[in-house]
Amino acid sequence: MEKYVIKGGNRLQGEVTVSGAKNAAVAILPAAILSDEPCTIENVPNISDIDCTIKILTQMGVQVKIINKSTLYIDPRHIVNPTVPYDLTKNMRASYYFLGALLGKAGSARVSMPGGCDLGARPIDQHLKGLASLGADGAVDHGMVHLESKNGLKGAHIYFDIVTVGATINVMLAAVKATGLTVIENAAKEPHIVDLANFLNSMGAEIMGAGTDVIKIRGVKHLHGTQYSIIPDQIEAGTFMVMAAATKGNILIKNVIPKHLESISVKLEKIGAIVEEYDDSIRVIGTGRLEKTSIKTLPHPGFPTDMQPQITTLLTLAEGTSIVTEGIWDNRFKYVDELRRMGADISVDGKVAVIEGTGHLMGAPVKATDLRAGVAMIIAGLAASGITEIEDIHHIERGYEDIELKLRALGADIKKIHSPENEMPLAL
Ligand code: EPU
Repeated sequence: MEKYVIKGGNRLQGEVTVSGAKNAAVAILPAAILSDEPCTIENVPNISDIDCTIKILTQMGVQVKIINKSTLYIDPRHIVNPTVPYDLTKNMRASYYFLGALLGKAGSARVSMPGGCDLGARPIDQHLKGLASLGADGAVDHGMVHLESKNGLKGAHIYFDIVTVGATINVMLAAVKATGLTVIENAAKEPHIVDLANFLNSMGAEIMGAGTDVIKIRGVKHLHGTQYSIIPDQIEAGTFMVMAAATKGNILIKNVIPKHLESISVKLEKIGAIVEEYDDSIRVIGTGRLEKTSIKTLPHPGFPTDMQPQITTLLTLAEGTSIVTEGIWDNRFKYVDELRRMGADISVDGKVAVIEGTGHLMGAPVKATDLRAGVAMIIAGLAASGITEIEDIHHIERGYEDIELKLRALGADIKKIHSPENEMPLAL
């Protein structure tokens, strides 16, 4: 079993380069199978969710060549098996993007119901409703979603009951190859939706309005090959921003799109950090003065739910009482028990956390309960006095490339240890 061992208290200083966006990459790689020719995709993050996506592509008959650490060549001309089995979906939610992609490509898809972070109920009713409107009949059978468009996919007018990233993406993937016009209303507006649309348009798709709540897609018969670079990861960048604030650090975060970070920048400034924006980088300086605030997570352009555990952790270090309301997921405060082990004073009632800032945290053994909760434990460990050991770090490695190396280059005292006999946490 692997753990991170962190000796807290170091100020993080220097420069860090953000990797490609996980949540864009896990949509763009499946989207590449819609092409009739090979694609080259750059700025792909080197994380375990991408390893898993490559395995899915490969077992389907797609040829994937790793050109270098962040560039993949994907040749989807010889798909033999439009099926995604359980052993490849159980750890990764986004495996369900193969529903839309395979429907668009082959007219049928068999995808095992997905796993991923446990954040409360994660129904896929809106995905199925959207794909059914395009003409995909289906059933869930023994844990497999089986969809088929016997008469071909046809454009439709779809209104989502709630704003959903996943269903917006799945419908986009199928609709690019449907006949006629699809209109998605109440669409999600996250940066990765726009990135997927740009990728598909670079292959010859006709998608308009991505980034607004009405997306129009005129179906095309063929998509051609492309060379495309994925956007930088908004949440990885936001995580380093919080780390700078939490450690009284000074970090220049490179390869970012500052516009994507606005909701995070505004809150960090309110809490007391200095944020300086440049063209494609952002500097955050932790002043040591952290003030209470109130935050509610919302769909983009609101404050991202995927930054909620990180900002809650920062607020345990602030003065006064802060309130964080989770606006997307039913159960995204499970990590609070871990923070309490480090001395945090947080009470949770449903989707609302009340944080009594204690000004400091103490190192303790904790575990990563999911991806973002796991990275929040790293933030806590960096800011805490003493040693923090974090278990279940596979969750963190799903979404953060080289986090340990990037942090060490910024001056953090963090180490990954591999087995119980190597456990020498004080010998850092
Ligand atoms: N929902 C439904 N029915 C559906 C789909 C969603 O009720 O058919 C509900 C969900 O239960 C949730 C809300 O709608 O309450 C929003 O879900 P959404 O579909 O937007 O989430 P997702 O696509 O499953 C993506 C990210 C998550 C991120 C959310 C919200 C990927 C691979 N995952 O999930 O990222 O929290 O959007 O922004 O893009 C993460 O990266 O740590 C992560 C969990």
